[in-house]
Amino acid sequence: MRIEGKEYRTIWFEKDLVKIIDQTKLPHKFIVKELKTLNDAVNAIKTMEVRGAPLIGATAAYGIVLAIKESNDLDFIKKSSEKLVNARPTAINLQWAVHRMNNKLSFVNPGNLFDVALKEADEICNEDINFCKNIGLNGLSIIEKIYNKKKNSVNILTHCNAGWLATINWGTATSPIYHAYKKGIPVHVWVDETRPRNQGANLTSFELNEEGIPNTIITDNTGGILMQRGEVDMCIVGTDRTLSTGDVCNKIGTYLKALAAHDNNVPFYVALPSSTIDWETKDYNEIPIEERDAEELSYIEGKDDKNNINKVLIYPEKSKSMNLAFDITPAKYVTGLITEKGVCEASTNGLKKMFKQ
Ligand code: MRU
Repeated sequence: MRIEGKEYRTIWFEKDLVKIIDQTKLPHKFIVKELKTLNDAVNAIKTMEVRGAPLIGATAAYGIVLAIKESNDLDFIKKSSEKLVNARPTAINLQWAVHRMNNKLSFVNPGNLFDVALKEADEICNEDINFCKNIGLNGLSIIEKIYNKKKNSVNILTHCNAGWLATINWGTATSPIYHAYKKGIPVHVWVDETRPRNQGANLTSFELNEEGIPNTIITDNTGGILMQRGEVDMCIVGTDRTLSTGDVCNKIGTYLKALAAHDNNVPFYVALPSSTIDWETKDYNEIPIEERDAEELSYIEGKDDKNNINKVLIYPEKSKSMNLAFDITPAKYVTGLITEKGVCEASTNGLKKMFKQ
């Protein structure tokens, strides 16, 4: 997708280096950052210079390529894989990508490890782009149906950033929106601000603006009244891990939006590539929920009137705060899962039928 009219991917390999768009600097600064070592990749994931489930998976894959550049000793690659998997605990794509890379590398001659790893990391990215494109086409038919009935702009609420910045291109939740817009269907997006890191305001609104898609930022508490007033036609969110039961783990606050949608008969869809499905875990209480530094709540960063980026404390100095990064939306509140293969019920049967596992 585009930034100032120029097409970008969120991550690419160029001249022996990995390049990323530093998402901690958006929307006020657009900076392409180079990752030269395994530790650079681990750090980029931890500090959320890259974030979003598919993108952290892709970064981990390239992280293994960078590790092999440092040493093709198998023990080093194994330890590097562990470091990458532990960088963030919740999104399953991280483990999925690291396992896929390691499977590909087993039985490869040491001299060929780098080439094979780079090819596989590129493949993970290309596959994700295709999957996200298909998620878009599958979700488009849902938006089209609403438009054909309503004959007026379709209002879609989304939470956090499950846009192209969270993937390699297209996004998951935003892909149907981009496809609808390109087809001439009028759409408007309610963008949840998504405290504390404001991925909705800083990233989703930013990327929609760059594509010319009408959107309005709302506080995380506004969605409920908009639904009561009939001003939300559907919700589409992303996910960091969806269980084979159809239970959805996503950015903190998703659950409350799903409850409000359920109470107001607003369809609540979750968009995901199959790399985000956790086929092993059966009980959502076993999903590791990341708890991040409480300072992410108490400090806020923004641009002042002299165009300087400043960080300020917004809470009483003595107050304690707590920062859980994800929550669970039980399958019963999910209208459907929009995947690269089609739209299915959020249930063991629905997922089994769709993926024949
Ligand atoms: O903490 P983040 O910004 O990595 O969280 C991102 C989300 O919650 C997204 O909704 C999810 O990763 C899906 S990305 C297509």
